[in-house]
Amino acid sequence: MKVIMLGAPGAGKGTQAKKIAAKYQVPHISTGDIFRANIKNGTELGKKAKTYMDQGLLVPDDLVVDLVVDRVNQEDCTKGYVLDGFPRTIPQAEALDKALNDLGQKVDYAINVEVPDENIIERMGGRRACVGCGATYHLVYAPTKKEGVCDTCGRELILRDDDKPETVTKRLNVYHEQTQPLIDYYTQAGILREVDGTVDIEDVFRAITLILGE
Ligand code: AP5
Ligand code: MG
Ligand code: ZN
Repeated sequence: MKVIMLGAPGAGKGTQAKKIAAKYQVPHISTGDIFRANIKNGTELGKKAKTYMDQGLLVPDDLVVDLVVDRVNQEDCTKGYVLDGFPRTIPQAEALDKALNDLGQKVDYAINVEVPDENIIERMGGRRACVGCGATYHLVYAPTKKEGVCDTCGRELILRDDDKPETVTKRLNVYHEQTQPLIDYYTQAGILREVDGTVDIEDVFRAITLILGE
């Protein structure tokens, strides 16, 4: 099963992608998580990516495409994967199609998690991420058992650098300009499916399992 998660920043792509990965036993591939891990480890890629991410801008296509193509070529991806945060531009989508075509593969579904801009700003302000394992929570909608501490690994939780309100607005603009056109792209390919992302996390997931099958 090969699935792409589409949606605005904060729509819940990561939240749902993790649940899909667990239920259907496929790897969760998040380009945002890969960049954040590189930043944390101080790699060259991380240094380059950080300058764009901190401004709410997209990292240039050439830094992203090879990374994902390499990743989907790995052993654990033969049965499928869920892509979260990639593709994000038409050139990225075209590059993915070409790479998969060469492998004799194709994407089954592109799932668009729909959330209006008004809801996004509120969600991002309440999001907290673990400094250790990267798990994501929300102060109100997905709280930890113990305040400020990760349920999984016990480390501290922080507000992501790019979740400050000014940067969120910038990311939303970038989303509308560069990423939203992918909705038409995958509609034309006949694989777009839409789910309402404003309902409870479990209800969004139920809608997704109806699409992907039990
Ligand atoms: P990335 O990490 O992908 O960020 P994003 O797309 O902006 O999305 P987010 O991770 O912010 O949101 P999400 O949809 O995953 O929501 P989440 O599940 O956390 O990318 C970061 C940056 O990296 C980019 O800005 C760019 O610079 C760069 N980058 C990455 N990929 C790139 C690419 N392909 N090309 C170029 N640059 C790239 O949920 C949000 C919050 O809401 C959480 O707190 C969650 O608990 C809560 N929540 C989730 N669902 C619900 C619900 N149903 N109800 C209530 N609350 C909910
Ligand atoms: Mg995410
Ligand atoms: Zn953790």
